[in-house]
This record gives sequence, C-alpha cells and structure tokens, in this order.
Amino acid sequence: MKHLLSLESMSRKDMEAVLQNAVVFKAQRKDNRQHPLAGQTWALIFSKSSTRTRVSFEVGIHELGGQPLFLNANDIQLGRGEPIKDTARVLGRMIHGAVIRTFAQSDVEEFAQFSGIPTINALTDHEHPCQILSDIFTYQEKRGPIQGKVVTFVGDGACNVPISWIFAAAKLGFELRIAAPKNYQPPLALLERAGASHVHTEARPEGEIIRADFRSSGGKVVLTSDLTFAAGGADLLYTDVWVSMGKEAEAVQRIKDLSGYQINAALMKLAKPDVLVMHCLPAYRGKEIDEQTFEASAPTIFDEAENRLHVQKAILSWLVP
Ligand code: CP
Repeated sequence: MKHLLSLESMSRKDMEAVLQNAVVFKAQRKDNRQHPLAGQTWALIFSKSSTRTRVSFEVGIHELGGQPLFLNANDIQLGRGEPIKDTARVLGRMIHGAVIRTFAQSDVEEFAQFSGIPTINALTDHEHPCQILSDIFTYQEKRGPIQGKVVTFVGDGACNVPISWIFAAAKLGFELRIAAPKNYQPPLALLERAGASHVHTEARPEGEIIRADFRSSGGKVVLTSDLTFAAGGADLLYTDVWVSMGKEAEAVQRIKDLSGYQINAALMKLAKPDVLVMHCLPAYRGKEIDEQTFEASAPTIFDEAENRLHVQKAILSWLVP
C-alpha cells in the first residue's frame, strides 16, 4: 500500500517518476485516456480552508475516472471528537483513497495506518508535499533540471512549505537557501532528519550562516537571516504567507518580525537575470511580495497553481497504478 504522507518519506526515484508522469498528464489532458480510479470514490477530508488543493484534487480525481467526496472535517463526527483511527476504519471500508488537509502530521499518518487505503497529505502543519512537487515540476518545465540550481525561500522558514523544500533539496540535489529571522528558521534537528552528512556554522557580522551538505545527492541547505546573501545568484525566489493557517493569533507579531523579508524588484536584482519568482498562494501583496513583482511574475505563479492538477493526477496514478 503506497501513501504520500511527506517528502521526508518519499524516495528520489518516486519523486522523479511522479514528475515525469506529470509531463504526460499535462500534455495529454485533452485526450484524458487514463482512468486508474474508475469505479473508485476518494474522500477529501479538510480541516482547513483551500482553493487550489481542493479544486485540483476534485477535478483530478474526476478526470482519472473516480468520484471525489468532499468532507469538511467539521461536518463529520471527526469535528465532534471522534478519533482519527475510528474515522479511518469506517471510511476505509467504504472508499478507495483519502486526501487529508489537517493540522498535525501524526493525524495523516494515523489515518493511513488505520484506514488501509492510499492516503495523501494535502497539507499539515509539518509538510505540504503536493505543493513542492508541483513547484519543482513548474521550475523544470520552464528552466530544465533543478539539480544544481539555487532556490531561495524568503519568509517564515519554519513552516510546512520550506520544510518540504528541505527534504526535496536533500534528495534531488539542489541548493536551498532559507532567508528568515533566526526564530523563524527550521530546527537543526530537521537537517539531520533529512540526512545531512555535514552541518557547520559560519559566524559573520551580518549574522551566522548554517550550511548543511547532503553528500548522497549533492544537495545543500543554507539557513541565514541575511536576505541579501541568500538571494545572490538565485535561480528561483520563492515565498509563502507570513501567517500560516492556525497561526492567526500571532499575526501582528509575525508581520512585525518578518517585515523586510519580501520579494521585490530590489531583491530580484541580486538574483540571476533569468530568475523565476514563485508563490504557492494565496498571496498578500505588500507583505511577503510586492504588487509589481507579483504581477510581473503572474504567468509563472498561475502556471504553478495550474500544475497542482497535473502533478496530483500523477501522484494519484502512482498510488493506484
Ligand atoms: N497553495 C495551496 O495549498 O493553496 P490552497 O490553500 O488554496 O489549497
């Protein structure tokens, strides 16, 4: 039984297979000949808001011949405290797969364990694997292999999106630089979990730089509060909201702490001349990105959003060959 619970638990070989198959799904969408989910019902169990993930999975499941069943977690007994493992055992007898958006990573893992059906993480507080596979697909579609390139993440470096980027860099062999204030950087233990062969700290007047090397892939992860350093020569500048879902009570403090960690025209001048700008959306203009840069990069950003559909169809067909 295969699941997509995290990029931490997904092999490089499987990531590459999904990315290659997504090219075929995108090219052949009009023909729509592959129906691996024919006769199947897949539940989308969402405890958080969603536009892109919900619609791309509902459409993708339908196009693969299956029936999507959207369940707002608050409308089922899960929202009234029924344990995950009981919900999983009930749904596992009725449906063929589950796509889950929730808070705790342990919830998707427990659902997969008890349901006995393929389970996909559609965002937890810890990882957003479908998003990062779609981002890498989009980069490669426009610029070729991501291996050896420099991806600079700007903003809250400790949330689910940069964490999934860390596991991708460790496996696919590119350099990920996370530019974030010290207390918005991911914990060092995560670099070890990702398999870093060497981690060292360089003290500099502009603030320390932590570098992790992943010998098996050639990947690197760099943590720094120095945005100028992090953007230098970047192939991809990437950002996400400063106030993730579930962090609304911290909004005022987060906006204060992260102000300055913005993608804008001045930052783009430090990157490679053909740098791409991506945003997983929704975007908050004037916060993590300015209006002018967002609109100039809109063709890439909305391709990135569309690619959720093609990549997730490849994920579904990888789970149910
Ligand atoms: N990027 C993303 O996951 O978008 P939604 O929250 O709209 O699904």
